[in-house]
Amino acid sequence: MTQRTYEINANGELQRTTSEAVIARDREVVSPAIYRYTDIAFARGEGVFLYDFEGRRYYDMAAGIATMNVGHCHPRVVKAIAEQAQTLIHAASHVGYMAPYVEMAEALRSLLPAPLSEGKALLVNSGSEAVESAIKLARAVTGRSMVLAFMDGFHGRPMGALAVTGSSSGYRRHLGGLLVGAEHVPYPNCARCTFGHGPRSPESCCGQWRAFIQMTLDKLVHPDDLAAIIVEPIVGEGGYIVPPSDFLPTLRAICNRTGALLIADEVQTGLGRTGRWFAVEHTGVVPDIIAMGKAIGGGLPLGAIMARADLMDRWWPAAHGSTFGGNPIACRAGLETIAIMREEHLLDNAVRVGQRLMQHFESTRAELPIIGDVRGKGLMVAVDLVDEHGQPISTDRVKQVIKALARRGVVMTKCGPSALRLAPALILTEPQADEVASQIIEALRSLS
Ligand SMILES: Cc1ncc(COP(=O)(O)O)c(C=O)c1O
Repeated sequence: MTQRTYEINANGELQRTTSEAVIARDREVVSPAIYRYTDIAFARGEGVFLYDFEGRRYYDMAAGIATMNVGHCHPRVVKAIAEQAQTLIHAASHVGYMAPYVEMAEALRSLLPAPLSEGKALLVNSGSEAVESAIKLARAVTGRSMVLAFMDGFHGRPMGALAVTGSSSGYRRHLGGLLVGAEHVPYPNCARCTFGHGPRSPESCCGQWRAFIQMTLDKLVHPDDLAAIIVEPIVGEGGYIVPPSDFLPTLRAICNRTGALLIADEVQTGLGRTGRWFAVEHTGVVPDIIAMGKAIGGGLPLGAIMARADLMDRWWPAAHGSTFGGNPIACRAGLETIAIMREEHLLDNAVRVGQRLMQHFESTRAELPIIGDVRGKGLMVAVDLVDEHGQPISTDRVKQVIKALARRGVVMTKCGPSALRLAPALILTEPQADEVASQIIEALRSLS
């Protein structure tokens, strides 16, 4: 595998590139608004590994933020991209029809339960755009304005998606006056109960989240004005929070009663990450609209909404769209990714390897008190870090731990205020999981 370690400098000369040089130049020209979890410059990726410009190898437990399901540069995905690039790079869905767009919509249908298996899709460029598309559709077809969202939920950073994001006030700082019409209620977070009932399992949830929804419908949002409830079936960025099993069914019942639409944001949980194609399948609940992103583009920018056909059929022509949405190369990369996932049984692998990862941390908890709650589903695994009083360590400290792990050759991000987020490619093997877990545990031991 070749690695591009040379490039043309400003004087037109061939110059050797180093990680240090890339980082120094980045600091000159790139906005500091982008936070970096590591100080690594990535030169190339292969399978579950990333390499820097000096050839150092890193286990990639971030996978492009829960995106690279079949690993980096899978030869079949690379080939699909190259072939499509030689055929048609872009034409725009507003100008005419494109086969990869249609095939992607058909493929997504084939992964979903009824009635979404008969649903209709609209393709965009990112998860946030999918979220905003879902909200637009819900408002358009219900004629209602309000959206109920959840604290701890993350739906993206652009202004519309940010209006329903509730995972950190840091994202909203100095941004008063976001899209109007969003109200937030607490997500049931049993590991660290919002209502002060102490740590417990989702099965023994205090259930007080229900009262908040009812209060909100009684006092703030008239049910006749409620266009949609938007929810992550398992909270992603906000902390890999698995809700109690009656949570989604309750939201479904509220939507049925009020005429609001249920939007599942499966941008992070979708496409096999939790061991099912979509995380709603763990609950039996079928939403009216699913927002998708991340993995569906096989590493290229692609987002989608899939909605019940009767809803989509009420969205009038030119109501929505985008120049690049459903780009043929991104669709081909995504289609090949789905084919590989099916052939290589990667959903089963996600369940098996995810459980193994969690077992490693759970069995070390007694010995290493910095390990708090270990939670997740499939290859969505969070390891909460706590202090000697069992309280979450500061976000700054978690970031320091992540930097220390990077120096040991393991790359990851965090989720929630204090958890390590493990969201590797779904091809991670059990021996690789063992090696990563022991690296992390060793690092935590030396930091403790
Ligand atoms: C659940 C969820 N929704 C939406 C988004 C936004 O996606 P994007 O960053 O592709 O716009 C994310 C990104 O992390 C996400 O996790």
